[in-house]
Amino acid sequence: MSVISVPQAFNEDELYIDLRPTFGRSLFLKCEGFNFAGSIKLKAATEMVEAADREGVLRPGSILVESSSGNLGVALSVIAASKGYRFVCVTDPRCNLATRLLMEALGSRVHVITEPDAGGGFLGARIDYVRALCASDDRYVWLNQYANPGNWKAHYRTTAPAIAREFPQLDVLFVGAGTTGTLMGCARYFREWHRPVRVVAVDSVGSVAFGGPPGRRMIPGLGASIRPPLLDESYVDEVIRVEEVDAIRACHHLARHGFLFGGSTGTVVSGAMGWLARNDTSGVTAVAIAPDLGERYLDTIYQANWLRAIYGPDVLAGGDHHRSEFDAPVQAGHRVAF
Ligand SMILES: Cc1ncc(COP(=O)(O)O)c(C=O)c1O
Repeated sequence: MSVISVPQAFNEDELYIDLRPTFGRSLFLKCEGFNFAGSIKLKAATEMVEAADREGVLRPGSILVESSSGNLGVALSVIAASKGYRFVCVTDPRCNLATRLLMEALGSRVHVITEPDAGGGFLGARIDYVRALCASDDRYVWLNQYANPGNWKAHYRTTAPAIAREFPQLDVLFVGAGTTGTLMGCARYFREWHRPVRVVAVDSVGSVAFGGPPGRRMIPGLGASIRPPLLDESYVDEVIRVEEVDAIRACHHLARHGFLFGGSTGTVVSGAMGWLARNDTSGVTAVAIAPDLGERYLDTIYQANWLRAIYGPDVLAGGDHHRSEFDAPVQAGHRVAF
């Protein structure tokens, strides 16, 4: 039995899905969506708020403010409600409706930036708004997930050791990159570990996080329109970039096997499966991190009209969602072909 008195005290850190039956290749998917914030961001939010509490940055009457595409906003909403702080989340139109409603239900205020910055992304415009708010009233406290070391330290302390405990023979770790907090925390931990682990960053096509031209990105959480200040590429062994349509296909493939995940998980799984197919991976132990679950994406990634409007009619390859390029050779009694 687990008994808790604050929501951030519960986080399922030991659940993995073996994707071999689903994709035909061995990959252990670490599920980070089973907590009261519904995502991996609960860890970063907890670490950053507790450090600010300890350092006296947060005081009675403080108002937290943060730029978030959604999940950190929900996590901060949970923690702010639990600790009695007010919270303003600055987001943009890519934030899902469900995520926005969730933050409001938890008592937070949500401000949606509708005008992109000069580069065409929203991040710069969101940060400008946060800075203006902080300049207007000294009760506002911006933890700044993009630069706060607590963001990567959370994963150095929790996510990476949890993986190391379960997979002492780990060879490859696939991590999606947004702020790169998860990536840098895990990469730093495994650089210091007793055996080498190849850390592969997964980014979206159109993200400029690791260089490359900017482009339209509709899947929140992963990718960046500026270079992430936390990123130190010397810790990253390889970067792979995934097209959003491939991420969507991976999401639907997982859903057709009963696993409903968010878009960034589709991105990481698609990238990882491509990498495993290109490399000689017999006997390789590979883990990927799934940052959240799929319910918040029902009106986007899992909605046919949205998909067609954004990606065109062929995004789900002719509507046959049951079989796709991912399907493993059918084993007797294992899959049913429709
Ligand atoms: C759904 C989702 N995927 C991936 C990430 C990327 O994590 P990080 O910011 O640690 O790079 C986030 C972070 O917000 C997220 O919400």
